[in-house]
Amino acid sequence: MSSDLARLEGLEKVTGTARYAGDQQPDGLAHAWPVPATIARGDVTAVDTAPALAIPGVLAVLTHRDAPALTLPEDGDPTLAVLQSPRVAHRGQVVALVVATTPQDARAGAEAVRVTYSAEPHDVVLTDDHPGLYTPAYANGGHPAVRERGDVDHAHRQADRRLDLTYRIGPLHNHPMEPHTATARWDGRRLTVHDSSQGANTVQETLAALFGLDTGDVTVVSEHVGGGFGSKGTTRPHAVLAAMAARSVDRPVRLALPRALLPALTGHRAPSVHRVRLGADRDGRLTALAHEVTTRSSTVREFVEQSAVPARVMYAAPHSRTAHRVVRQDVPTPSWMRAPGETPGMFALECAMDELAHACGLDPVELRLRNEPDTEPDTGRPFSSRNLAACLREGARRFDWPREHPARPRRDGRWLLGSGVAASTYPALVAPSTAEVLARPDGTFLVRTDATDIGTGARTVLAAVAARALDVPADRVSVAVGSTELPRAPLAGGSAGTASWGWAVHEACTRLRAELADRGTAALPAAGLRCHADTTEAVRARPDYARHAFGAQFALVAVDADTAEVRVRRLLGVFAAGRILNARTARSQLLGGMVMGVSMALLEHSTMDPRFGDHAEHDLASYHVAVNADVPFVEAHWIDEEDPHLNPLGAKGIGEIGIVGTAAAVANAVHHATGIRVRDLPVRPESLLPHLPDVP
Ligand code: MOS
Repeated sequence: MSSDLARLEGLEKVTGTARYAGDQQPDGLAHAWPVPATIARGDVTAVDTAPALAIPGVLAVLTHRDAPALTLPEDGDPTLAVLQSPRVAHRGQVVALVVATTPQDARAGAEAVRVTYSAEPHDVVLTDDHPGLYTPAYANGGHPAVRERGDVDHAHRQADRRLDLTYRIGPLHNHPMEPHTATARWDGRRLTVHDSSQGANTVQETLAALFGLDTGDVTVVSEHVGGGFGSKGTTRPHAVLAAMAARSVDRPVRLALPRALLPALTGHRAPSVHRVRLGADRDGRLTALAHEVTTRSSTVREFVEQSAVPARVMYAAPHSRTAHRVVRQDVPTPSWMRAPGETPGMFALECAMDELAHACGLDPVELRLRNEPDTEPDTGRPFSSRNLAACLREGARRFDWPREHPARPRRDGRWLLGSGVAASTYPALVAPSTAEVLARPDGTFLVRTDATDIGTGARTVLAAVAARALDVPADRVSVAVGSTELPRAPLAGGSAGTASWGWAVHEACTRLRAELADRGTAALPAAGLRCHADTTEAVRARPDYARHAFGAQFALVAVDADTAEVRVRRLLGVFAAGRILNARTARSQLLGGMVMGVSMALLEHSTMDPRFGDHAEHDLASYHVAVNADVPFVEAHWIDEEDPHLNPLGAKGIGEIGIVGTAAAVANAVHHATGIRVRDLPVRPESLLPHLPDVP
């Protein structure tokens, strides 16, 4: 049974008492403002700090000449070696940091610093025939960059139905509502940082290594976080800079990144080009599936989004090739973003499946049902559970698919109506976690674990898990998360949080309940009774299954016959993600993901300016994200899925699958409405206008 708890910290958030990293006000707090590089490649030859230091209130200007030295571990993230060398690897890289008594003075100081460069020609334009392209050993997540089964070229040539299609997705940026912010202070050799991050102990370990400290000498608190979407999943330069600055001026320092610097400093989804070749027999059964992805990273670090990986999971095709190529360019380093891999990969694959349905004269739901595999196609492993077919059927029923997807699309005045479908998938990951629960004599319980609530409702779902395991009402359970002072737990990423933390909470509570039962009616000691759990062994002992969540998304769009404006009128998703633990927050997560998918389909786009070597959109006025008015009617549903091979909760992650497939469903619906295939996201009026049918 799923619970339906409202967000535990909702009142704190709406009344403004929830404390974020930038709300910390330690005595003597100073403020830092970065100076971004204005070239994309070259060296800093001089930094004139005098005009900044002349501003009253400016306390210090850090440059590569005098900033505290950092120790980057061998496997460390080189984007964190800030102010360590004169080398500039991308525009917007931090080349100096001004510290002042007020944010205004820090900003004025940053504008006054004069930096001189020796610039070199830069390379920032991704093409699919770039001479620097190479095949890496691995794409992200440890996935081999290339996988081949059978002879896909031959099978494709021999197929009755053949498609060879190219899809393009531009660079995308996360832009959480709360910009990346850290407040740092030193007490001798002890460092305390309040950071807006997806995992306090990830930041703790990174900072300890960089500053040569013991892990125990660093405390990181991420109590409330205003969104991250992957961009706060690793330690970001702002946290390192705040700690450096605090050491240099010997007082607490806050660095709240101005939104304009987020695109260059916090990671982004690299642009990608997807060549998808599908071969099928007359009945639409795939014989060949090739998904070859071209993408890029920075010169600083190899980061290869694993976008061809979902094609290894989705459809039964005896001959297959899935591959990634990458080129290193003079651009900011890409990083994690909203269902990395699946989001861009499934846009390409699910649009291609729609195109195949047309080529075969088949309904696109039926085409997918015909290509359901018995085992995970790439590995032959059994699925722990796979209910894509059930999602497609349930979604079709709820959407009234046959009626909403007529052979001749309908009109509503001058609006052309069309509907589209796409499948979703995301791996059901889990990581070892610890947790502790305390029973107090007054009958209340406290769950403690260093989970992170990035706006997802992590506290709430953990309270639900604890209440069920303890068999007590949820209002007797409180939850402490978001601090390295709490039992160690993995970061909020990979949609693995609830399954990982929840497993440990469930264990600790189950044990505590047994101990309480053993005690009978004996009163608890004043300090209460504590149980601890560590799932490391249990997670490692799991048998080898292919574990993935699945879903089906249906979209109804209207395209203005005159202006080609696209409006999504209805969006419906049905997901199979194991047991849904808390319905209210689960629905919110799925809806949020679907809205992001609409955003990706129609609005979000960053433009690489080839002359300046920079993404042109630096604010939410130019980087458009979907708002309420863009998404009138969204529904998220799920089917009851029993999966005994996951974890004691029976839960798969739901944080990211909502976005996967949405953009393809929208683009497929635009095709149904207009007959126009847009293979280049976002779907913009200017892509449609030249091809719009004449409407009387
Ligand atoms: Mo998510 S992109 O795994 O934080």
